[in-house]
Amino acid sequence: MRLMPVPSLAEIRLYTAHPGSGIRRLTDPQEGENEPQPPYWAYAWAGGAVLARYIIDRPQTVVGRRVLDLGAGSGLVGITAAKAGASDVVAAEIDRNGVAALGLNAVANGVTITVIGEDITNGPPPAVDLVVAGDVFYDQHVAERIMPFLDRCLAAGIDVLVGDPGRAWLPRSRLRLLAEYIVPDFGEARHAATKPSGVFSLQPERPECPL
Ligand SMILES: C[S@@+](CC[C@H](N)C(=O)[O-])C[C@H]1O[C@@H](n2cnc3c(N)ncnc32)[C@H](O)[C@@H]1O
Repeated sequence: MRLMPVPSLAEIRLYTAHPGSGIRRLTDPQEGENEPQPPYWAYAWAGGAVLARYIIDRPQTVVGRRVLDLGAGSGLVGITAAKAGASDVVAAEIDRNGVAALGLNAVANGVTITVIGEDITNGPPPAVDLVVAGDVFYDQHVAERIMPFLDRCLAAGIDVLVGDPGRAWLPRSRLRLLAEYIVPDFGEARHAATKPSGVFSLQPERPECPL
């Protein structure tokens, strides 16, 4: 892995995969694991990149607030929140290699974040003011786990921001668009055409109309 600036965010540097990294082997089944987890943490995803851009442009979003980066991957969003002035940042990531990458990336960017390597989505809302979820709607199963948790966070008075390039399981009817940016997506060639990705505020579910 090479420590490189994020293409759309020169302020943040992440350990980044390159052809010589050999991380393809991580897609082979590991001892004690039923299914290999792709190394999502090795890349900055479009959803996380736009959330990070939004936080850099509007630091008041996080200044003095306790922030949870849910599905943190590389830690791009949480690291950005810490650099922008969040009082406390927790990053939740279920991939054990991702947990290691999060720690290295935080140190590389000179910030302190607390890393939780367990699935907290079955639990109660954490003691934070803001949840940031970058690119977590890429898979139906993941989306179905995360949405009830985000709803419990909203019910507890926690703000929820989502960054997403329009993945298949994005709950569009529940989102209010705050900003759009053009950023490269994961896996795109360096000079490939890019499409806008959005930063959204998650809205509470409206009660059914009784009529
Ligand atoms: C597409 S990646 C996005 C990573 C990062 N937020 C970004 O935008 O670059 C989604 C990440 O969510 C993690 N994830 C999936 N389900 C999770 C859960 N229940 N709790 C925490 N992390 C989860 C995956 O392991 C993966 O690293």
